[in-house]
Amino acid sequence: MKLPFVSQNDLVVGLDIGSHAVKVCQLKRGSGGYVVLSLGSAILPEGAMEDGTITDGESVALVVKELLAGLKIKNRKVGFSISGYSVIVKKVSLESMEESKLEEHILSEAEQYIPFDIDDVYIDFQDLKTNLREGDRTDVMLVAAKKEIVNDYLELLRSLGLQPVIVDVDGFALENSYEYNYDKGENVALVDIGASKMNINILVNGISVVARDVNVGSRQLTEQIQNSLDLEFEEAEAIKLGATPVGDGQEEVEDIFLSTCTQWVLEVKKAIDLYQVSHTGQPLSRLILSGGGAKVAGLVEFLARETELPVELFNPFLKMTANKKKIDPNYLNSIGPEMAIASGIALRSSAI
Ligand SMILES: Nc1ncnc2c1ncn2[C@@H]1O[C@H](COP(=O)(O)OP(=O)(O)OP(=O)(O)O)[C@@H](O)[C@H]1O
Ligand SMILES: [Mg+2]
Repeated sequence: MKLPFVSQNDLVVGLDIGSHAVKVCQLKRGSGGYVVLSLGSAILPEGAMEDGTITDGESVALVVKELLAGLKIKNRKVGFSISGYSVIVKKVSLESMEESKLEEHILSEAEQYIPFDIDDVYIDFQDLKTNLREGDRTDVMLVAAKKEIVNDYLELLRSLGLQPVIVDVDGFALENSYEYNYDKGENVALVDIGASKMNINILVNGISVVARDVNVGSRQLTEQIQNSLDLEFEEAEAIKLGATPVGDGQEEVEDIFLSTCTQWVLEVKKAIDLYQVSHTGQPLSRLILSGGGAKVAGLVEFLARETELPVELFNPFLKMTANKKKIDPNYLNSIGPEMAIASGIALRSSAI
C-alpha cells in the first residue's frame, strides 16, 4: 500500500510537528513566485512528542488547533512530515523498468530492503532515473513508514476537522525548500538541528547521496544546564536562549555549549567524510544550517572553522515575498531556520 499521498491542486498548509514546537506555514503561488500568507510556531508541552511519535495526542491536538486558530487559517488541507525510527528511507539499485512494473517489483521484494513487516508499513518510492544508457540499473528511493505512527497523525489531524493530504518526510521537505530557494547545481550539505534530532542531507545536483538522522539536538543543552545548575526545564531553556542571565553558572554553561556543539560538529564531519570517500573530486560548496539549534550563538562560525566550508543559515523565504503589514519582516527573518521543513511541505501544493 502506498503512503496516503494525494496529489491535488489546492493550497496545503505545511505542518511540522517537532519535538519542541509545531511550525505552520501557508504559501500561495503567485505570478512572481510563492508568497508567504501566514506562518507561526507554538511550543509543545514537554514529552508530548518523542522520536517522531505522538505520545500525548491531546496536548499536541490542542496546540495545533490554537496555532491554526490564532493565525486565522481557514484552509483545512494540511501536509505533515514524519521522521525518526518509524520511517526508513533507502536508496536501492534496481533494473530499470516501467513505473507499474517497478511498483509490483518493489511491493513483492520490499522485505529484502526494509526491516519492518510489510503489512505494517506504507510504502512509497521514486525512480531517480540515474540510468544513462538502455539496460543500466537505476537508483530508486524507497520510503517505508510505520502505519501505526502515520495513522496516529492522520487521526489527530482529522479529529481537528483537518484534511491531511500530504505525508512528507522531514529530510525530503528540507530538500524541497532548498531546491526552490537555492541553486540546485551545487554540492551542498543541509543540516537541520532541532530539539532532539539532527538531520544531515548531502545533495549532489539535487540528489540526496548521504542522509542520516542523529539523536542530538538543542534540548541536550537545556537538559545539561538544568542538571548542572539544578533548575526547572523552563528556567534552563531561558538561560540557553539568553533570555535570563546565568549568574554564577556562566563557566558551566559555556562548557556545556562547547562540548555539545563539538559533538554536533563531529557528527557533521563524519557525514562529510562518508560523502568524500565516494565522491572524490566533487567537493561540497557549502553547508546550510536549519532548525532552532542552528541559532546557537557562534555555531555557524564554529562549523565553518571545523569543516573548512562556507556555512550559512537556511532562509526558506529567500525567493518568496510576504505582506509586510501582515508578517513582520524581522519575525520572518528570525523564524526562517525553524521554518525550513514546514515551508518545504507547503511548497508541495501546486495552487496558483
Ligand atoms: N537561539 C537559540 N539558541 C539555542 N537553541 C535554540 C535557539 N533558538 C531555538 N533554539 C532551540 O531549538 C529547538 C527548537 O527547534 P526546532 O523547532 O527546529 O525543533 P523541533 O523541530 O521541535 O525538534 P525536532 O526536529 O528535533 O523534533 C529548541 O530546543 C529551542 O530551544
Ligand atoms: Mg524539527
